[in-house]
Amino acid sequence: MAIKDKNVFASKIGAILAAAGSAVGLGNVWRFPTETGANGGAAFILIYVLFMLVFGVPIMVTEFAIGRHAQSDVSDSFQKMSGGKRAWRLMGLLPVVSGVLVLSYYSVVAGWTLHYVIEALMNGFAGKESAQYTSDFEAFSSDPVQPIIWTVAIIAMTCSIVALGVQRGIERGAKIMMPMLFVFIIVLVGCSLSLPDADKGLAFLLKPDFSKVTSSVCLSAMGQAFFSLSVGIGCLCTYACYFRKDVDLMKDGLSVASIDTMVALFSGFIIFPAVYSIQGLQPDAGPSLVFITLPNVFQQVFGGMPVVAYIASLVFYLLLVMAALTSSISMLEMAAAYFLKNFKMPRLTATLLVSAVCLVLGSFCSLSFGAWKDVTIFGMGFFDLFDFLVAKLMMPIGGTLMCVFLGWVVDEKVLRAEMTNNGTIKSPLYPVYRFIIRYFAPLCIMLIFANELGLFDFLK
Ligand code: ALA
Repeated sequence: MAIKDKNVFASKIGAILAAAGSAVGLGNVWRFPTETGANGGAAFILIYVLFMLVFGVPIMVTEFAIGRHAQSDVSDSFQKMSGGKRAWRLMGLLPVVSGVLVLSYYSVVAGWTLHYVIEALMNGFAGKESAQYTSDFEAFSSDPVQPIIWTVAIIAMTCSIVALGVQRGIERGAKIMMPMLFVFIIVLVGCSLSLPDADKGLAFLLKPDFSKVTSSVCLSAMGQAFFSLSVGIGCLCTYACYFRKDVDLMKDGLSVASIDTMVALFSGFIIFPAVYSIQGLQPDAGPSLVFITLPNVFQQVFGGMPVVAYIASLVFYLLLVMAALTSSISMLEMAAAYFLKNFKMPRLTATLLVSAVCLVLGSFCSLSFGAWKDVTIFGMGFFDLFDFLVAKLMMPIGGTLMCVFLGWVVDEKVLRAEMTNNGTIKSPLYPVYRFIIRYFAPLCIMLIFANELGLFDFLK
């Protein structure tokens, strides 16, 4: 059974925006500020941008090439393109498992966002003291039932779209939502920069202190680059099945990474000036940062104009939910494609099965903020454990696998044909790209792991 119907993304811009839709999401607006805050600011950002360029873009292009060439789910693509080797099919399971784990805890945060849409709709942010946003968020996220209900809602929305078939929905949705989100984020940057202590936030973002760079900062920057671009989990491989043959994969990869990096940086410019301007907030406040800071920004900046504050918070959280959905759809589509293809399941059954697994795992993650706070594995609750496992281990390993696969296992003619669209376009960066996926990326990623494990000591 094919994983797609006859549709492909109708336009080149549609393909870029759909891939950008998979990339841009909570990773940019929620996870990027969280990681930047926890890892000391500007130096982390510089390393992150570097890793986007040297790992993120090449691995994204690699996923595009595998998906468009094999026209199948990630595991089957590995088997097809390796000349039928089952070992590669098995290795292709790693991205699928990683995708399911990401979707599980991602849905929890997307659920929080949906709850905030309703809060905004009910004008629930108006007239509160700064500290109350913190206590409200803590009370909500540690509740054993409410966040799970919102997680169910997000998974149900994702599931319905994927079950219906996604190509037209994704392309059309992405074309409307991505530019809107972008414009709105720029407006919010302006608002945040107008806050009284914005310059301290800017310094945090722009003045690197390299003495803070440790091996774990490098690991976190690498994890953020992978998470933010959705690479190493096969989503982009699955989407690339819907790319037309004339899409320039390298150009698309660069465009998507640029859009994604810009949204992340702008999110930093929204959050950190606000963190330094609002009493009681710390840059390393963790996953709650965005949910406490933003309602504060809306009230402080537009406090004298309640209608504007109301509309701004509502539109922002709505767009954030949509950005989260365009990412979660790509994850669910990837995992469902695996079952659809390999177990010949109907689309609806495959989608429901993956959703059910994500729901169970997502509930564990949600409970780790409250009732299961003391349940830890390797010293981490479920949410932190999943985030650590996926972003810092499985995605980079999945990405390395894809590089090694396309760089060493697949015939070079296939790679060159995909990069040049069968010789119809020039690809001046091809030699650099091939060098990166064959040598540079796999070696550097392994070095970063080795360093973190203490096998090396080039960064303390
Ligand atoms: N790449 C997705 C995001 O950033 C997972 O939200």
